[in-house]
Amino acid sequence: EKGGYASFMLKEIAEQPKAIADTLLGRVDGSGTLSLDEVRIPTAVLREVDKVVVVACGTAYHAGLIAKYAIEHWTRIPCEVELASEFRYRDPILDQQTLVVAISQSGETMDTLMALRHAREQGAKVLAICNTNGSTIPRESDAVLYTHAGPEVAVASTKAFLTQLVACYLVALYLGQVRGTKYGDEIRDVVRDLSRISGAVEQVLETMEPVRELARSLAHKDTVLFLGRHVGHPVALEGALKLKELAYMHAEGFAAGELKHGPIALIEEDLPVVVVVPSPRGRSVLHDKIVSNIQEIRARGARTVVIAEEGDEAVVPYADHLVRVPATPTLLQPLVATVPLQVFACELATARGNEVDQPRNLAKSVTVE
Ligand code: F6R
Repeated sequence: EKGGYASFMLKEIAEQPKAIADTLLGRVDGSGTLSLDEVRIPTAVLREVDKVVVVACGTAYHAGLIAKYAIEHWTRIPCEVELASEFRYRDPILDQQTLVVAISQSGETMDTLMALRHAREQGAKVLAICNTNGSTIPRESDAVLYTHAGPEVAVASTKAFLTQLVACYLVALYLGQVRGTKYGDEIRDVVRDLSRISGAVEQVLETMEPVRELARSLAHKDTVLFLGRHVGHPVALEGALKLKELAYMHAEGFAAGELKHGPIALIEEDLPVVVVVPSPRGRSVLHDKIVSNIQEIRARGARTVVIAEEGDEAVVPYADHLVRVPATPTLLQPLVATVPLQVFACELATARGNEVDQPRNLAKSVTVE
């Protein structure tokens, strides 16, 4: 059933282009139109939404952090993202104009379920993003947008994450379309870009051999750090989480701008630091700032693993290892930038002799609070 792969995780990583295409199927087309009638919340209600709150755990929470950038940019509605396990314990402000988005692969995560129950009790509308048909979270929500990743067997989430991102973009674009913001043209362009994105993920998968080699060469390390900014920050957090759960290594993700406020003290000779670099087009200020960060850590001895867009030449002099990803619109970059981090963690864990499909102490679906 592993289809010739050594693990379910490798199989599921390889399935990502298809998972993305399946999640987009019937929802977007090449002309830039978006049809999401399945979100049964009336458009009149969606037009009145004045706050979006995303609740989720673990990897799904990282998808939520990325969703915030997309939702606020394309809809101009304020968006908060909260760990589901913390949400209901802080007396959150919710009412009929709040849209709560609950993201869950399994649809059975107790923390997320309790958060959405709390939200509905306060009168908020809940939209679930879920990969499991008929599971508890979508059943208890007002509406659901299914991700079509297919069954995810490996405990560590990979293809479900990329499809959660796709679903989050769809929700953001749909809300933007329904409400008619000044980004109408951009929304049409991005819908078109999304319909081509699975090809870009395929392209990344075809160039992963050097990443695997690098992972094997780092198997004896104790710590790996991950840096990113903007949507690259949650990508860094996800890269660190994958490494913790699979390789049982100390791994941390930081917002690159926070380096100088503390974490830079951790940098020492030969410490591997993975840096997710934003596109030099678009938000080019951020690109320049992260290039300075790479210079700073390298001057202190870090071994830099740089994930950068094709054609980004500015990073070349400071990259001990360079991983190229295809150019995408800024907000969509996590779809391509996450893939090398998944491959890296999987290969490194295997090199350490770990069982990647069943990491110690973890369960696929966490049905206790
Ligand atoms: C990480 C991982 C977990 C889950 C989290 C939420 O690889 O798999 O962090 O993402 O437990 O699970 P779901 O999405 O099923 O609610």
